[in-house]
Amino acid sequence: MSEKKKHSIHTLQKMKAEGEKIAWLTAYDYPTALFAEAAGLDMLLVGDSLGMCVYGYDGTVPVTMEQCIVHCEAVRRAAPNTFVMGDMPFMSYQVSDEDAVRNAGRFLKEANVDAIKLEGGVRVISKIRAILDAGIVVCGHIGLTPQSSGQLGGHKAQGRTVASARAVIEDALAIEEAGAQLLLLEAVPPEVAGFITEKLAIPVLSIGAGPECDGQLLIVSDLIGQFQAFTPKFVKRYCNVAELVTDAMREYVKDVKAGTFPSDEHCYHMLKAEAGGFPDLQKEFE
Ligand code: KIV
Repeated sequence: MSEKKKHSIHTLQKMKAEGEKIAWLTAYDYPTALFAEAAGLDMLLVGDSLGMCVYGYDGTVPVTMEQCIVHCEAVRRAAPNTFVMGDMPFMSYQVSDEDAVRNAGRFLKEANVDAIKLEGGVRVISKIRAILDAGIVVCGHIGLTPQSSGQLGGHKAQGRTVASARAVIEDALAIEEAGAQLLLLEAVPPEVAGFITEKLAIPVLSIGAGPECDGQLLIVSDLIGQFQAFTPKFVKRYCNVAELVTDAMREYVKDVKAGTFPSDEHCYHMLKAEAGGFPDLQKEFE
C-alpha cells in the first residue's frame, strides 16, 4: 500500500489557490485503481462512462446505481489514499430531490467515496442543494453532459456560440452559488473555460476544456488505448493496451497450437520422494 497522503476538498482548494494542477483520471476496477494510486493521481472518478468502457453499452443512459456502487467499492479498496468520486447515473437524481439525496448517500455509505458528481447546471440546482444539505461533497458537471446527449443532438462540444457560452457561464455561476465544491467542464472552448476558472473560487476541472482549468480529467480507457470505438479530439493516448494485449493473446494462441506452452518451467512435477511410486499407481489403473 502506498504512503501517499489523501486529498480532501480543502487540499484540492489549496492546489487551486497555489496554482498546482490537479491530475484526475477515471478508474472502474481494482487493478487499474491500484496503478492509479501508485502513479500519484490526485483524484479518481468512477464515471458512468463505465457503461461504455466496461459493459459495452453505446452510452451511459443504461448504467444503474448497483453497477456504479460495485465499481466504486472496487476502486476504493485499491486506492484508499486517493480522493475517489462516484458518478450519479441517469435517473438516480433527476426525478426528485429525495431520490438525489438517497442515491448520493448510497455512494458514501456503501462505497465510502469522498464526493459525488452529477450532470447539469441551473436545472439541477435543487438537487445539488439537497445533496449538499446532507453533508456530501458535490462536483457539478456542465458543458457536454453525456446523459442528455439526446437533447444536445449528440456528443457535441458546448459553449461555441455566444448564446451557448452564456448558458455554460450561467450554469457554472449557479453551481458555485449553490455551494458545490468542485466543477467539471466537458468539451467547452478554452477561452470560456479559462474565464470560468478565473471567476470561480472553487476548483474547475477540464475534460476537453483546455489547459487553463485548475486540473485535467481523462477517461483511463482512452489514455491507455483500451477503448477503441472512437477517440474524442481532446484525448491524448499514452499507450496502446489494446495492441499490447491482443498481441500477447495471439502469441498465447500460437504457443498452445504449437505445443510450446506450457513448458517444463510451468509444470508441477511430483515430489521427488514420491515419483518412484507412480509407475505402480499407473499399473493399478491399467
Ligand atoms: O462518466 C464519466 O467518465 C464522465 C466523464 C465523461 C466526465 O462523466
